[in-house]
Amino acid sequence: MTQKLALLDLVYDDLQRVEVKMRSIGAGAYAPLAEAFLNLLNSGGKRLRPALALAAYGLLADRASEKAIAAAAAVEMLHNATLVHDDLIDGALTRRGITTLNAQWNKGATVLAGDYLFARAAGFAAETENVRVVQLFAETLRTICEGELRQLFSSRQWRQSKESYYPRIFAKTASLFASSARSGAILGHATAAQEQALYDYGYHLGMAFQIVDDILDYTADEDTLGKPVGGDLRQGIVTLPFFYFLQSQPDPAPIVSRLDTALSLPGRSSGANDGLGEIIALVRASGAIEAAYTEAQEFCEQAQANLEALPANPYRAALTELAEYTVARGA
Ligand code: IPE
Ligand code: IPE
Ligand code: MG
Ligand code: MG
Repeated sequence: MTQKLALLDLVYDDLQRVEVKMRSIGAGAYAPLAEAFLNLLNSGGKRLRPALALAAYGLLADRASEKAIAAAAAVEMLHNATLVHDDLIDGALTRRGITTLNAQWNKGATVLAGDYLFARAAGFAAETENVRVVQLFAETLRTICEGELRQLFSSRQWRQSKESYYPRIFAKTASLFASSARSGAILGHATAAQEQALYDYGYHLGMAFQIVDDILDYTADEDTLGKPVGGDLRQGIVTLPFFYFLQSQPDPAPIVSRLDTALSLPGRSSGANDGLGEIIALVRASGAIEAAYTEAQEFCEQAQANLEALPANPYRAALTELAEYTVARGA
């Protein structure tokens, strides 16, 4: 991360405890699995979700309890498990600047490695000994699975409505941001109103975060991002930038038929000379990026407004800044 976030400073010590806890799973695991998982952790990752859980807790309570650390470890492990499966589904060969597991292992082994991480994440959730946190964990995992399936089955539906986009990004991303914040709130003994405010903050932040991720898929370069760009279009996934782009076309039919042709080319997974580069460039040069960015900013403002119901302290200020950082990534 280029910018040094106040949030990461505030929760620095607790994040180190989360790191130790996550790494502890390496000890008892089958060696190739342990190595793969430690590589994934060592290669980076912003740790936004555990930071969010710890900040929600810190905003209301003192130094994080072991249970708060376990909740933070659970959400980051769950996130890592979804990444392992997501990269397999997307056929992505790099993540956090290193080779993905699916680029090294066969499909079956990769699925099982993801499952293993889900299991360890569930174990961490159970360590909170809080039934509501465990329930939230289960609900979030269910929501993510449904969202990814909905995305898969709506692939190449180029003219899908903008309304179908929001539940999809809620399911795959914002749900975990929201439940990370809620888990911290529950363990920090939040009032019902505070818990709701933190959930809403996480929700709006997560929505903004995924819109920005979808923008970066068009505008960033792979070296900076540490993962492939242009993948969404190549997977037939309609995101907000593409939606606005297609909507701005007086005649979308030629674009749609070029996409359909390109996506049915044999051996197209290489991405080379598939003609999609041109369409990606058109999206990038259109007003679609700006329009999507404006929406991300609106979600970010709503996230900041949700914080007003919470005690004004350094954690709250840091969460306000986190929302700014989230949209600044896409600028
Ligand atoms: C990647 O999340 C998946 C999305 C929801 C877009 P992050 O961008 O938070 O991934 P890491 O953990 O920092 O690598
Ligand atoms: C991430 O969506 C969703 C989950 C990991 C569940 P993306 O597919 O956009 O994430 P990246 O861009 O591969 O990180
Ligand atoms: Mg992906
Ligand atoms: Mg993406």
